Amino acid sequence: MKVITDLPVIAGDPFSDAEICRPGQIDAHIRDAGELVFVSSHGILATGRHEICREILRNWQVFTSTGGTGIVDIRKDGWRVPSVILDTDPPDHNRARGVLNDILSLRSLEQFKAQTEAQADRMVRDLAQRGQFDAAADLAKALPMAVLPDAVGLQQDGRDHLLRYASLNFNSLGPRNAIWQKAEEHARESVAWVTQQCARENLAPGGFGAAIYAHADTGTITPAEAGLLVRTFLSAGLDTTIYGIGNAIRALAENPDQWDLLRADPTRAAAAFEETLRLHPPSHLVGRTVAKDTSFRGTPLREGQKVLLFIAAGNRDPRAFDRPDVFDIARRTRGHLSFGVGVHGCVGQVIARLEAVAVLTAMARHFRAIDLNGKPELTHTNWLRGHARLPVSVIPA
Ligand code: HEM
Repeated sequence: MKVITDLPVIAGDPFSDAEICRPGQIDAHIRDAGELVFVSSHGILATGRHEICREILRNWQVFTSTGGTGIVDIRKDGWRVPSVILDTDPPDHNRARGVLNDILSLRSLEQFKAQTEAQADRMVRDLAQRGQFDAAADLAKALPMAVLPDAVGLQQDGRDHLLRYASLNFNSLGPRNAIWQKAEEHARESVAWVTQQCARENLAPGGFGAAIYAHADTGTITPAEAGLLVRTFLSAGLDTTIYGIGNAIRALAENPDQWDLLRADPTRAAAAFEETLRLHPPSHLVGRTVAKDTSFRGTPLREGQKVLLFIAAGNRDPRAFDRPDVFDIARRTRGHLSFGVGVHGCVGQVIARLEAVAVLTAMARHFRAIDLNGKPELTHTNWLRGHARLPVSVIPA
């Protein structure tokens, strides 16, 4: 039987400035080096193989979420009370998951869908008249920030804290490096603001937040768990979608043949977003912790060992997708890993898809052409891949 030191060793640091600035390079190296590799800079196991990411994500009995979903074991080094949904395993996970499944069913989102589509259409029509704009700020960020906090029932004042908090949350999944320190300094007041907003009395009636608390009244969850579930909504639901929409706009601007396909048939907006998620996942990593001493594919694993899944690499695994590096909105994207797999598969994916499809459909309707109009700037984070700036020019339809 192999031991961990027999595994291929990856010497580079996936969280270094150099690797963050060239997304994808170390992903491919990790995937191609072997089924399971050892990333020596952080003492963690990793995989970039599609099949193995799936296998690990399905096997929560061995690969637990209770140590957190990053590379830090939150049981030893947590910065906040763990999430009652992300950082749990069944059966504890089931109650919280049931509550969000109920609130986020397509049926209960009809009003949110109509409001989001109307808002996206208005924004995109105005941007068509402007001709040049920053698609990262003016569209990818503007739409989710306009619709989601209202839908949750948040007060207007202080919403700037939301993205600072989300940034701290996602950066905390990586190492305690300079990126994390900066996020922490930036978000000090935001933690208190978000905690306060998650209290029942601060949430408007009729919103997702109030709906979560209604489950506390029936006893499905406790009031404290309800507050933590509202918090998860705010940590997980904004910048993931913002970066996903920005990545889609860039992919379409850089691939005029695919833009033409979308323009010819705006019902392809959903396929265009799905292909963006496959090729450019906003959240490109998922972490787990080994729950008990065991062996996996011939390698003995020790309890507490951290395992990092490079899902962006898995999405480009030639064993799973043909011409994996090509952006092709007509391809079959089923099986991509960008919303996770198994019991923790993204419970908010309906919302993310709904917002992105509203934007891309409105773009296909109101823009005849779209081009990059300057150098895109990537975000510099431990965990998410998106754009800080995405200058574009458009021709109105
Ligand atoms: C494009 C946008 C999004 C991406 C790429 C994304 C990605 C993911 C991924 C990869 C997971 C699995 C994590 C794991 O297995 O450890 C996940 C879980 C989750 N996501 Fe999303 N997400 C997105 C949007 C959203 C939105 C809009 C919401 C809420 C409004 C949301 C809420 C959640 C929650 C609560 C979980 C935990 C589910 C569970 O543990 O059962 N996400 N997401």
